[in-house]
Amino acid sequence: MPLIKLCKINELTEVDSRGFVISEFSPERNIFIVRNYDVVVAYENSCPHNFAPLDWAPDVFLSDDKEFIQCASHGALFEIDNGQCIYGPCIGQSLTTVNISIDDGVIYADL
Ligand code: FES
Repeated sequence: MPLIKLCKINELTEVDSRGFVISEFSPERNIFIVRNYDVVVAYENSCPHNFAPLDWAPDVFLSDDKEFIQCASHGALFEIDNGQCIYGPCIGQSLTTVNISIDDGVIYADL
């Protein structure tokens, strides 16, 4: 599986999110990352409720308080660390994890 360079960790604030369209694949992959201080996680940008993209606006995947990932369509809330839905129409379901690695401050997706 290829490693796709996403961005440097210091391009994100301590609690931040960013979306990426990976065009090396056909069809292209739509993923996002969330930095939560020292932890970085990545998921497919597809809500388990009806597979809509989660972002409110480009790179905006978090609730106002930055405690959860929030789906723009119907407000489902997901735990940042494991992608599990804890509120909304897909409660109990989870986002699909994307494996990442960090090397010398650069975040890579393992797709
Ligand atoms: S599409 Fe995400 S909550 Fe409905």
